[in-house]
Amino acid sequence: MITDETRDKLIASAREARKWAYAPYSNYPVGAAVLTASGRIYDGVNIENAAYPDTICAERVAIFKAVSEGEREFEAIAVVTTNAGSPCGSCRQVLAEFGLDTLVIIASTDSQVTRQMRLGELLPEAFGRRDLHGK
Ligand code: THU
Repeated sequence: MITDETRDKLIASAREARKWAYAPYSNYPVGAAVLTASGRIYDGVNIENAAYPDTICAERVAIFKAVSEGEREFEAIAVVTTNAGSPCGSCRQVLAEFGLDTLVIIASTDSQVTRQMRLGELLPEAFGRRDLHGK
């Protein structure tokens, strides 16, 4: 479990990062911040493209930034939008690669709504390496 202080810091990082979202098509900026087992925080934003499917979500940007710096263990991820939107299926799957115990914190920009649950609750019966290799 993470402390309230760390949780608040993670949400604040996601909220702060959100200003860098590139979302001219949806006008739905998203900020995310992932906390690694090593105690570092990596943030991310959604980056849209005129070729819509080339858009990438904030959560995956944060995770990919962390993994590309050598991180593999994630304690928690915070996602901030105006309406406390839930992480999409692709982001859940990418997170699942690194463990189902990651705490997912969903918050609104005004902090009125905050929900949290383990990734395993958000993505039950996740496809994983066990399905590929039987272990
Ligand atoms: N989006 C995210 O960044 N994360 C999610 O989990 C859901 C959706 C972005 C993608 C797109 O830029 C915009 O929100 C609308 O779908």
